[in-house]
Amino acid sequence: MSAPVPEYNPLRELSPQDLRAHAAEALTRARARSVALTDAVDDEDLVRQHSKLMSPLVWDLAHIGSQEELWLVRDVGGREALRPDIDDIYDAFQHARADRPELPLLSPAEARRYVREVRDKAFDVLEKVPLEGRRITDSAFAFGMITQHEQQHDETMLATHQLRTGDPVLSAPEPPRAPAGGYPAEVLVPGGPFVMGTTAEPWALDNERPAHEVVVDAFFLDTTPVTCGAYVEFLESGGYAEERWWSPAGWRYRTEHGITAPRFWKRAQDGWWRTRFGVHERVPAAEPVVHVSFHEAEAYAAWAGKRLPTEAEWEKAARFDPASGRSRRYPWGDEDPTAEHANLGQRHLRPAEAGAYPAGASPLGVRQLIGDVWEWTSTDFHGYPGFAAFPYREYSEVFFGPEYKVLRGGSFGTDAAAVRGTFRNWDYPIRRQIFSGFRCARDPLPGEVA
Ligand SMILES: [Fe+2]
Repeated sequence: MSAPVPEYNPLRELSPQDLRAHAAEALTRARARSVALTDAVDDEDLVRQHSKLMSPLVWDLAHIGSQEELWLVRDVGGREALRPDIDDIYDAFQHARADRPELPLLSPAEARRYVREVRDKAFDVLEKVPLEGRRITDSAFAFGMITQHEQQHDETMLATHQLRTGDPVLSAPEPPRAPAGGYPAEVLVPGGPFVMGTTAEPWALDNERPAHEVVVDAFFLDTTPVTCGAYVEFLESGGYAEERWWSPAGWRYRTEHGITAPRFWKRAQDGWWRTRFGVHERVPAAEPVVHVSFHEAEAYAAWAGKRLPTEAEWEKAARFDPASGRSRRYPWGDEDPTAEHANLGQRHLRPAEAGAYPAGASPLGVRQLIGDVWEWTSTDFHGYPGFAAFPYREYSEVFFGPEYKVLRGGSFGTDAAAVRGTFRNWDYPIRRQIFSGFRCARDPLPGEVA
């Protein structure tokens, strides 16, 4: 490769005052979403456990405040603890989600007051603390980390909304349709090295670091995520009944749990239906499939004669610009996502049709890598070469290992603050209450690539 082009740091040019305003705006947007998600239901609903997989919404709300207090008020601000007595209750490592309803949780009114008090103090810290000199405050990192933490819990709360039964309580406009005009079903990603991960991105989390060169062989990647229509073909051809498409672990999971379709789908006499945030609707053929496990994604790919992309392949397709040899922050370039680029931030309550968001395509023409659905990759979650836990091991290092698969790109329920070309999510391969979908990759046929 020619001389490496430096990575772009979007916050480098900001004055301390503008940096503070940027962090405050990000925190405020996250809080507006947390409030909207918890105000949408009554108190009884807030304390109820809608699924063993999830916490009661009121736990998430107070946990958001608890993490903010721990990092922004106590660590960065060096202030007194507001509520040291509740640290344990809201420590995600102390109590499994299934057990959280039995804890002496703050009531909805107490939780709301608590997060407001913490936020007031955090804003006071943001005004006064120097934003340099300590790694945790450089470029307002701690404020970015806490923003992302809140947005991640907002997405989890959105998944809880999807699991709750009852009438719809959330609404949003429909996402854009896919524009007319064709695009190839798959694109060729050239072989060779590219820069994976990041060193310069100021709010990137420890597991995205450092930037390092990775060599990826040439491969083909689907231009869009796999649609519900394509997935129905797999279903209707008996894909769930044929062991040959499934890995041994996948087949065991499928049979033991009686999995016969994506989560929230039901077969009726006139085809497939699903429930989406309380709305019963026909499965939309043109939309990316969502709520599938890694095992289902892998089985579909085998049935289609393809495979899931590795994490490095996904990131190369999303970031590599063949013209400059440089890795971008996003498929479309270095600028932050707008409504034209990607379906993010719960702006819509569903993925957009496959082929939507042409302005968000990568230089190679791959669409919807950011937003719409989290995409399963075939890669286990591990640290990059040179990984160093920061600011605490429990953020990601304790999850490294073969039990978790990496997901990339964010969903319609992910805020722009909590996803980028380098962002890594991870989950158990059986999980599907998350907004997970996938796209397929394949190796070139002999002689197909010069
Ligand atoms: Fe958390």
